[in-house]
Amino acid sequence: MTELAQTPIVVAVDGPAGSGKSSVSKATARRLGWAYLDTGAAYRALSWYVVQRRLDPTDSAAVIDALPDFDYRIGTDPSGEDPAETGVFVGDHDVTDAIREPDVTAVVSAIARVPEVRAYLTQLFRDIVRRSGKPGVVVEGRDITTVVFPDAPVRILLTADESVRIARRSAELIGHSAAHVGEALLRRDAADSRVVDFMNAADGVTTVDSTDLDFDQTVDAVIQVVQKETHV
Ligand code: DC
Repeated sequence: MTELAQTPIVVAVDGPAGSGKSSVSKATARRLGWAYLDTGAAYRALSWYVVQRRLDPTDSAAVIDALPDFDYRIGTDPSGEDPAETGVFVGDHDVTDAIREPDVTAVVSAIARVPEVRAYLTQLFRDIVRRSGKPGVVVEGRDITTVVFPDAPVRILLTADESVRIARRSAELIGHSAAHVGEALLRRDAADSRVVDFMNAADGVTTVDSTDLDFDQTVDAVIQVVQKETHV
C-alpha cells in the first residue's frame, strides 16, 4: 500500500444504530474514490475475540490484558470487489460475518465502555487512516467527530427518527421480530450513549437527518456537505 506524503482528508460520520451510517458512508467513499473505515467493526471484532477466548466481557482487566494479542486487520476499499480488501480479520480468522451475530452484538457495549479499549482503538484508527494510501477517508462510528478526528475538515452527525431506524434495522435482520430488533437497538444505543454522545451534534458538526430521505438522497446530502467543506 502506498503511503501518501499528505495526511488524507477525513470525513468523520457519527450516528446511532440504524441511521444508515455504514451503507451511506461506504457509498460516499465509493463516489469520491476514497477509502472507508467502519470503526464499529473493531469494537465488534474485539468482542468476538473476547468471546472466543472465553473471557468475561465485563471483566475490564481481562479485556485490557487481551489487547496486545488482538491481531486486527480491516480492508478499507469501499467497492466490495475483493474480500481481502473489504473484510474484517482477527489473526487468520475472517470474522466479517461473525461480528454481526447477536452473541457478539450483545457484549459489544460492555467492551466499548472500557476507556483503555477506546484509547487503544482510537490510535489504531488514526494509523489505519494515515496508511490508507487514498486522498481521503470516510470514517464512521460514534466518537469520530468528537474524539478520534475532532479536527477533521468534514464532521457529520447522521440521524433518523427512532421508528425509521428500527424499521431499517429490522429489514436488515431477516427472521428476527421487529419488536425484538427495536428493543435491542434502543437498549444498545442507551448503553453506548452513556459513554459517548452521538445523539447531539457537537459544535461545528453538521447534522444530516435521513428520516425523510431515501438512500441515494442521503448520500447526495452527505456529498454536498463534503463538497461545501473541502471543495473536492
Ligand atoms: O456501528 P456498530 O453497531 O457496528 O458499532 C458496534 C458497537 O461499537 C456499538 O455498540 C458502539 C461501539 N462503537 C463505539 O463505541 N465507538 C465507535 N467509534 C464505533 C462503535
